[in-house]
Amino acid sequence: MVITELELHNFRNYQSLNLELSKSINVIYGKNGYGKTNLLEAMFLCCIGKSFRAAKDPEMIRYGEEGFSVRTGIAENSCGSIRVNYTKPKSKSIVIDGVYVEKLRFLFGNLLGIVFSPESIRTVTDGPDLRRRFLNIYLCQLSRDYYFSLMMYNKFCEEKNKILIEKSRPDPIEFEVLNENIATYGAKIAFERRIFVESVNRIASGIYRFITDETEDLSVGYVPNIPSFLEEIRKSGSVNDAPAASSFTEKEKEAEIERIKGVFFSDLNSEKIVRREIEYGRSVIGSQKDDLDISFNGMNLRSFGSQGQKRSAAIALTLAVLEIMKNTTGRTPVLFLDDVLSELDDRRQRNIAELTKEYQTFYTCAGNENLRNLGADGTPVNYINVEKLR
Ligand SMILES: Nc1ncnc2c1ncn2[C@@H]1O[C@H](COP(=O)(O)OP(=O)(O)OP(=O)(O)O)[C@@H](O)[C@H]1O
Ligand SMILES: [Mg+2]
Repeated sequence: MVITELELHNFRNYQSLNLELSKSINVIYGKNGYGKTNLLEAMFLCCIGKSFRAAKDPEMIRYGEEGFSVRTGIAENSCGSIRVNYTKPKSKSIVIDGVYVEKLRFLFGNLLGIVFSPESIRTVTDGPDLRRRFLNIYLCQLSRDYYFSLMMYNKFCEEKNKILIEKSRPDPIEFEVLNENIATYGAKIAFERRIFVESVNRIASGIYRFITDETEDLSVGYVPNIPSFLEEIRKSGSVNDAPAASSFTEKEKEAEIERIKGVFFSDLNSEKIVRREIEYGRSVIGSQKDDLDISFNGMNLRSFGSQGQKRSAAIALTLAVLEIMKNTTGRTPVLFLDDVLSELDDRRQRNIAELTKEYQTFYTCAGNENLRNLGADGTPVNYINVEKLR
């Protein structure tokens, strides 16, 4: 799939804009603060209905205006256009091929997008919430059921937290019903995350070796915050030894989810956890506390990796997701690379350009001379100077 056109109204620093885009490489360049990342943000908004910068919807409205509108024209895809409108104070609408969609989850999967930005490096350097965000923004695009499970899970956790705050001695029956629901949806989330991370690990380790010219290893493992499940995983090997999605038939998948649910439910009802929950006034285990274990050459990347190693690992994770999305959907996602290549040496630039050549790609950089390796193989490059778009 490719984005052929981008139309903006009152989005960030753009009052009105209509851009035609190339199906292969697009380089958006111009001085700092001129609106390069804003263009990527607008396009990615049509993938997941939210900002990849975790900005709130009103922040994307051009200063002094009441709302914004973003429209992407799309080719080689099942839909031809996606529009996201937002009007203050809280009215968001999504229109696919002229038809309003009622729920955000119906947007997922229509336009597949993957983003790499300076923020993505924080996925490997910062706290676990960014790693969960990484899992969520891609798993939601791959599976509407995953998004639904996440919504339901959060809803039941919120209900439980409310009770925990209000009552020092929650009603055991009410509590058990909530735990049953939390375990049902939490088990689905844990299963999907585990098999997704298994593919990320398998593919990212190969890419990382390629980027580093076969000199370093990368491994990624899913660390569920369900104590007995994690203990079971660690007993049978390491978090990196997860089963592949293809090793489950539909029936086996259901059975495994049911099994994880049982483990989670029993942890949730254990005396120790219940006591801690009452003490802290909130739920203390589950998907909202999951993490990823990211290591290079057997060492924790976050603690021991250099800047360049962390950057290369974050790129490898992103490119792994790209391949997973292509393999599972049979379609080619659009790739948004914000400020990626300019800091890499020529060889790494060429390696990345090689890995991404079959995708429509949007690069941003402050000066286009930094990306001299793009189009070196004859692929036409569409240069967009943001300074001329104002
Ligand atoms: N809601 C808004 N309304 C109007 N202008 C905005 C809004 N939000 C951000 N801006 C402007 O957008 C600009 C930042 O845009 P963006 O982040 O896309 O820049 P950039 O070209 O990517 O810069 P850099 O090279 O530093 O990454 C700033 O000048 C900021 O003032
Ligand atoms: Mg930027």
